[in-house]
Amino acid sequence: MDTKLGYIKNLNKDKKYIVEASDVIKNGGIVAFPTETVYGLGANALNIDAVKKIFKAKGRPQDNPLIVHISSKEVLDEITLEVPRIANIIMDRFWPGPLTMIFKKKDIIPNETSAGLNTIGIRMPSDEVALNLIKEAGVPIAAPSANISGRPSPTDMETCILDLNGRVDYILGSDSSEVGVESTILDITCNPPCILRPGGITLEMLKEIDDKIYIDKSLLDKNDKNLKPKAPGMKYKHYAPKAKVRLVEGSIEKTVEKINEMMHNYIDDGLKVGIMVTDETLSNYKDGVIISLGSRNNLSTIAKKLFSTLREFDNNNVDVIISESFEDTGLGLAIMNRLRKACGFDIIKV
Ligand code: TXA
Ligand code: MG
Repeated sequence: MDTKLGYIKNLNKDKKYIVEASDVIKNGGIVAFPTETVYGLGANALNIDAVKKIFKAKGRPQDNPLIVHISSKEVLDEITLEVPRIANIIMDRFWPGPLTMIFKKKDIIPNETSAGLNTIGIRMPSDEVALNLIKEAGVPIAAPSANISGRPSPTDMETCILDLNGRVDYILGSDSSEVGVESTILDITCNPPCILRPGGITLEMLKEIDDKIYIDKSLLDKNDKNLKPKAPGMKYKHYAPKAKVRLVEGSIEKTVEKINEMMHNYIDDGLKVGIMVTDETLSNYKDGVIISLGSRNNLSTIAKKLFSTLREFDNNNVDVIISESFEDTGLGLAIMNRLRKACGFDIIKV
């Protein structure tokens, strides 16, 4: 398949690429496009054949539902059975933005989009290119992250091209994604609402609206095999670069000591080692491919760089990546969730 490319530097001058990409969506094709969280791979959410193309292009398991992207709240009446009062309060505060809410769906949303569930995840992105694309297409756009399934989500156009060139009809590019990790998923079909995936809108921010909002326990305790994640996608190993990921959790001093010890053992075994660190600890490491995610005092920079850094290690052909950990609060919870999944929950506690 020939993939057409369009890059938007200035939304006013480059509008023609929005029109081209929206024509592809209207005609049942699939388009990679920027959002403030990560790049998405979109199709008309109401078109079964178009939605099937997404699953094929990504190699996505059939039981993993898609998130539907909208550009105005009015669409909710057409695609959901009910909008609970708390959902209205939450969307007034956080939409457009990096928050997906789970609603009961109407039949107009095909089972292919919701992977057979009677609920549907919906979000209104804040990225102007994304909003314009949805408006111009005139339909809700179903879009998972624009990576081959299992790989780290793309946060820039180049990475979309690497994963999807030749597999999709159109790749629409713009700036790199501002947030860098996927949206928070909040299930509002239950009371109190439950966070199924931590993301850009934090637990602390949501608790300001309802103190009872909580995190799906299966995300925090992987040792309890009875707990199954409520978001189907959260059960898969995810966000994995080609290299094996090792995550070290503990005090900064002990972490630095442990990472250095592990690194030298791996190097003795003839492996190429990457270490993912922070500005505060950078000077404590001397060997291996060392990349800092930024300062621990600025978690938004760390989230923004996380996926591109995992891919950068792959470009350096390392065999194993050893990473430092972060606090499970604020945006740190989303960062740690992605890291725990990247290492398959095989965590080294010091
Ligand atoms: O930030 C984002 O949400 C990005 C951008 C493109 O908007 N999209 C994204 O989609 O991350 P995806 O497909 O990579 O992740 C969607 C997650 C999966 O874990 C899926 O299982 C869950 O959302 N999900 C979707 N619909 C659901 C539903 N009805 N109930 C529970 N979980 C759902
Ligand atoms: Mg994804």
